[in-house]
Amino acid sequence: MVPIGVLVSGRGSNLEAILDAVDRKYITKGEVRVVVSNKPGVGAIEIAKKHRVPTAVLDDKGLPKMDPKYDAKTMATLESHGVNSRDGLVALAGYFRILGSQFVEKYKNRIMNVHPALLPSFPGLEPQKRALEHGVKVSGATIHFAAKDVDSGPIILQAHVPVRDDDTVDTLSERILRQEHRIYPEAIRLFTERKLKVEGRRVTLAT
Ligand code: GRF
Repeated sequence: MVPIGVLVSGRGSNLEAILDAVDRKYITKGEVRVVVSNKPGVGAIEIAKKHRVPTAVLDDKGLPKMDPKYDAKTMATLESHGVNSRDGLVALAGYFRILGSQFVEKYKNRIMNVHPALLPSFPGLEPQKRALEHGVKVSGATIHFAAKDVDSGPIILQAHVPVRDDDTVDTLSERILRQEHRIYPEAIRLFTERKLKVEGRRVTLAT
């Protein structure tokens, strides 16, 4: 079993998609050992509790978005739940902090993130709004490994959606979110079945 830790900050719909995938045995070779939130009282914590998954809240109020000391606490929490850097997986699911290089290096190619745009387009904040304003006709969701720079690591899976003339940020976000919920569990399944091969920037299916 691959021990999985999920880091969250908010609503938790991607967390729920992952936990549902474990419950319905779409993911059979990984188990979510802990959900860690940097914000108290968020929806994601309630979702974890509903699924009887251990939770930890490491409140980052007043701290900078990137902070090696805070990262060290997060890593210690993950490790205390068995999510180690040798065989574990850390899934960022709506996690609004930036991981420092020590964290990213330690868990190299063992940290996944979901981004609501087709990277490398629109990294960073409010990608759906910026995609709409830019006038793109296609957008989507990306699952990638974390790297030192935000939203920049090797791409694991992507799914595209059309951008419609009458779209608002909300309608486009909703369409993209449905794809996030589909491809995040798929990426985790592939990882836990050791089917992902990473060579430089390229992630391919191991044969
Ligand atoms: C998702 O759109 C994700 O791509 C982005 O933040 C949102 C989090 O939503 N990084 P949720 O907390 O998973 O519902």
